[in-house]
Amino acid sequence: MCGIVGYIGENPSKEFIIDGLKKLEYRGYDSAGIMLYTDKAYLKKAKGKIYNLENKLSEKKLNNAKIGIGHTRWATHGIPSFSNSHPHKSNSGDLYIVHNGIIENYESIKEILIKKGYKFYSDTDTEVLINLIEEVKKVNKVKLGKALKIALNSVIGAFAIAVFDIKNPHEIVVAKLGSPLAIGIENKNFYIGSDPSPFLNFTKRCLYLNDNEMAILSMKKGLILRNFITDSVINQKVENLKFEIEQVEKGGYKHFMLKEIFEQPKNIIDAIRGRILDDYKIKFSSIESHIDKFKNANRLIFISCGTSWHASLLGEYYFEELARIPAGVEYASEFRYRNPIINENDVIIPVSQSGETADTLAAIKLAKQFNPFLFGICNVVGSSISRETDSGVYIHAGPEIGVASTKAFTCQSLIMLMLSLDIGYRLGKVNDEKYKQIITEIKKLSRYAKKVLEEFDNIKKIAKKYKNAKNFLYLGRGYNFPIALEGALKLKEISYIHAEGYPAAEMKHGPIALIDKNMPVVVIATKKGSYHKIVSNVMEIKARGGKVIAVVTKGDTEIKKIADDIIEIPDVEELVAPIIANIPLQLLSYYIADFKKCEIDQPRNLAKSVTVE
Ligand code: M6R
Repeated sequence: MCGIVGYIGENPSKEFIIDGLKKLEYRGYDSAGIMLYTDKAYLKKAKGKIYNLENKLSEKKLNNAKIGIGHTRWATHGIPSFSNSHPHKSNSGDLYIVHNGIIENYESIKEILIKKGYKFYSDTDTEVLINLIEEVKKVNKVKLGKALKIALNSVIGAFAIAVFDIKNPHEIVVAKLGSPLAIGIENKNFYIGSDPSPFLNFTKRCLYLNDNEMAILSMKKGLILRNFITDSVINQKVENLKFEIEQVEKGGYKHFMLKEIFEQPKNIIDAIRGRILDDYKIKFSSIESHIDKFKNANRLIFISCGTSWHASLLGEYYFEELARIPAGVEYASEFRYRNPIINENDVIIPVSQSGETADTLAAIKLAKQFNPFLFGICNVVGSSISRETDSGVYIHAGPEIGVASTKAFTCQSLIMLMLSLDIGYRLGKVNDEKYKQIITEIKKLSRYAKKVLEEFDNIKKIAKKYKNAKNFLYLGRGYNFPIALEGALKLKEISYIHAEGYPAAEMKHGPIALIDKNMPVVVIATKKGSYHKIVSNVMEIKARGGKVIAVVTKGDTEIKKIADDIIEIPDVEELVAPIIANIPLQLLSYYIADFKKCEIDQPRNLAKSVTVE
């Protein structure tokens, strides 16, 4: 949560920082602020979105500033307000900070600082941190870098910070623990971002800070990287980023979410590329080299949150079906506090789009104490989760900017299917015929996705019809149950309509009481599996006056006769069907939210990567 941007170098910084904050707005948008330094430090803040801040930056002098730090906030400590917005400055007015994360022991530090005469003007933990750094600097008579190092050793929590000292206006100091931070490097210009998207237009040379690392970005001495615990100098591993700026722009679509939904046929190809060989074989090198871990696994434990949890649930079904390994799915936030039973023959599979979700990271740390094999499934390359795990795969969905996850879910689900098929085949649980049959379908998946997207007009009409509903129910069975959960989550996230996902047969154990003419029920009723049972469920809904929107296989006649609205998907293999059936539900949520004029890419109270508990 929260995005930070910074720049120090030879060029004006204002525009870069404002544009960068807009690119990071997906991380939070409760308030924004900037500190620009020319002859002095100019601090500007505004509640709400970046454009409110932009309107306060007309002063000509600001255009000359070649140093600056900026922040877009997702409120944790203190309400979204002007005074709680970042950057925060120290009592002397010398030090400025932007911070993403949480300082857990800020209250005890604040008490000590208050006793020493410090005053606080916000409710934030960040203002405490900057004054702690000031106090350390004063008492130890050291420069900012040294003071930061000492101060960071006494705080508990998570942070990515950028700090500036007007007494030494040739450098910015950054540090990281738990929250992400990337530095773009181009000659004497240093760019700072919570992810590289702010600086992709300027440089592809990127240094990702690791936990416990700090960097002094100095106009005089260049970049100095240190571990702030051991105080040792670290060799810099600068990477050449492969993604392009177009990947993080809207490309003519009204919203990132819509762009990302329509991008899925291409994302599917990217996720498959190099992993299905010409002779119809799946090849994951990370599986090849660790197949024994899966062969000897007691059980697989998926740990994840939100949409990634839904993909994990589908993964559980796939792995049990194809690899015949017992599998279970855990909410990372519950798992981390539950004293779970883990042994070293378990394979723990953290699943995360961002690779930065705090609960998932904490669950990994907990699991590590028992020495299981950790196999991560992530989208963001180089993210914390990908580094904290023993091995794993990337889903290759490309940058996902819309807060509501769409293409990542599709690629996560596809990777789950391919991994379970690969492992099942290697372990002799899947025969040649089934193996080839599923691979053949996977190879057609991109075309199937395209076909479903062509249905957008029909889905838009359905969305218009139901846009004023107050509640929705989503039902599915078997492989389509995770899709019901995901469909409901998508709707509530972006349209603020209450929606619940349920296993269709569970309806009669409670939710059926809710059904009346005002309750649209989305039923995922693709052929095979429990199709005939689902038909009965649809009958039960209709008998109580409910409205049914059914996702069915092309050519279906039975449900067509009874449902109020129909969305057809191609006739695909049973295990592949849920991946395809999810796509129209993404569109349905999108269009309902759009009709309701909701802030689709940045729904209220949400942030893209949840880097706090
Ligand atoms: O980055 P992660 O996959 O770990 O994020 C997990 C959830 O926060 C995320 O899926 C969230 O539920 C999305 N907003 C869903 O659209």
